[in-house]
Amino acid sequence: MCGIVGYIGPREATPIILEGLRRLEYRGYDSAGLAVLQNDQIAVRRDVGKLENLARQVAAAPLNGHVGVGHTRWATHGKPSPTNAHPHVSHNGRTVVVHNGIVENFHELRAELQAAGVRFRSETDTETIVHLIQRELDDGHPLTEAVRRAVRRLRGAHAIVVLNADAPDRLIAVRVGNAGGVALGVGAGEMFIASDVPAILEHTRRMVFLESRQLATVTRDGWTLQTLEGEPIEGQVHTIPWDPVSAARGEYKHFMAKEIHEQPRALTDTLRGRLDFRSGKVWLPDLPLSQEQARALQRIVTVACGTSAYSGLVGRFLIERLARVPVEVDYGSEYRYRDPILDARCAVLAITQSGETVDTLAAMEEARRKGARLWSIVNAIGSQAMRLADGVITMQAGPEIGVASTKAFTASIVDQYLLALYLAQKRGTLSAEAARQHARDLARLPDLVGQALEGEAQIEALAAKLYHYEHFLYLGRGINYPIALEGALKLKEVSYIHAEGYPAGEMKHGPIALIDEGMPVLAIALQDALYEKMLSQIEQVRSRGGRVIALATAGDEAIREKADHVLYVPPTPPLLSPMVSVIPLQLLAYHVALRRGCDVDQPRNLAKSVTVE
Ligand code: AGP
Repeated sequence: MCGIVGYIGPREATPIILEGLRRLEYRGYDSAGLAVLQNDQIAVRRDVGKLENLARQVAAAPLNGHVGVGHTRWATHGKPSPTNAHPHVSHNGRTVVVHNGIVENFHELRAELQAAGVRFRSETDTETIVHLIQRELDDGHPLTEAVRRAVRRLRGAHAIVVLNADAPDRLIAVRVGNAGGVALGVGAGEMFIASDVPAILEHTRRMVFLESRQLATVTRDGWTLQTLEGEPIEGQVHTIPWDPVSAARGEYKHFMAKEIHEQPRALTDTLRGRLDFRSGKVWLPDLPLSQEQARALQRIVTVACGTSAYSGLVGRFLIERLARVPVEVDYGSEYRYRDPILDARCAVLAITQSGETVDTLAAMEEARRKGARLWSIVNAIGSQAMRLADGVITMQAGPEIGVASTKAFTASIVDQYLLALYLAQKRGTLSAEAARQHARDLARLPDLVGQALEGEAQIEALAAKLYHYEHFLYLGRGINYPIALEGALKLKEVSYIHAEGYPAGEMKHGPIALIDEGMPVLAIALQDALYEKMLSQIEQVRSRGGRVIALATAGDEAIREKADHVLYVPPTPPLLSPMVSVIPLQLLAYHVALRRGCDVDQPRNLAKSVTVE
């Protein structure tokens, strides 16, 4: 997955950058590159595969200079190749860019630049950025202004570092949205830039973290910050404690907070290299399936536990809707005791973050015994669930340390979305235009999740009003019913509050008896096909004296009259909505738990990987 390292100072930049990239290796990547300012010229080296390949190339043709940038890439637009690797270079070789994120409007920008005579050398979306910046420079704008003007043209979430040979005393770093962090490392007469703290921690513990829509001008003597509109701003230097656990937490107090905020990046990484954003084509190389086998598939059975099982319930919607294969979802702990009916025309899909959950593994073994095809969606590379399966899709969420699962939930839904598209394409149940539209929607997902994260301050304030309640009811319908289950699970796990998730339409068949002023009801009432129906459930709660927290679509002002509190998420295509609507519920559970003084990362009685039955 993509990583960025930059250096400016008196030392040789190359070894510092290579070592920084090496410290990001655990996250995985398919190619790498670096650029160093050498005698007034920018020299670039790029290679595919292991960092060793790049290091060998650099050893054979050394790069000497005191300012440079490096990057590890995980392909999204264009296959892994030296020309698609970063840094990307402007037409005159005077500017280079490294980038994490997806330029959502890159087709338009590329067409615009090509029409103006720019020749593209790579297939990447990133190359548009360097050409946009160079065009602004050619028009006479100073570097900072040129970067600001160019970045304002980009849609999506980005972390970008720019080196320009005509401004050799500086690097420019920008963060927009949540395509990964940008940390500035403050040294003595030298500065570092990194997407991840561990990359530069051996050099300094003093870090400045860029917020969204901030731009940093970094010289060897320090840094200045401004907004993308050019307003100067103050940045705060954080001192990172020198122990590996705190270092890994970076700017966050808890892993749960870090992992919630990592989701835009985790989702970008999960999409990378699997989905062609232009054609909508999906590649799942580790889940081989011929067209005949896909067409012969009669049923999928998803087996999982806890959060992973709720992810499976969302996946059921996606797979049935797109690939028209019936899906049933069962708990790993129940499945093998059902004497399930399975044969070679069925696929059993195990979803597991840890890949070691004993109940899920037992369900997989049952499926193996009965001759079904066996697939898994797994986060922990090399785990048992990965080894047992005939076909695997990895989550690319990175290590999840907090016991309460957050980023693995959304990443595993993205994997199921990709599986649904993959099956649909092989079974012929989706038109080419529909596939392209799904790809366009998925390209927007990291940014939509980033927008949902921006509501955190409001959620924190709401947590202060709610934390003393002892019971909660979460209601959802359709594709957001599993989000009610997951929201309730998150709250009970980390805050020890009793919470129930329920399909909203079922409330009147029993749980309505519980409604009173002591049991707040969180209703997921997005403006989708089931909106009106959710409103009537809210009315039923209110007319019984219940307190309602509505999770609504931004712009829905009318709902304020029906609810005591409203949390908003951005308008989202319906099939993506679970991955966006779960964000406020994760944040609410986290802030309520903090208020109650709970140990959010290691809640009592729970374990990250449940290896007993
Ligand atoms: C999630 O917050 C829980 N800690 C738990 O429900 C978890 O999802 C479940 O134990 C399954 O774990 P797995 O995904 O590693 O198999």
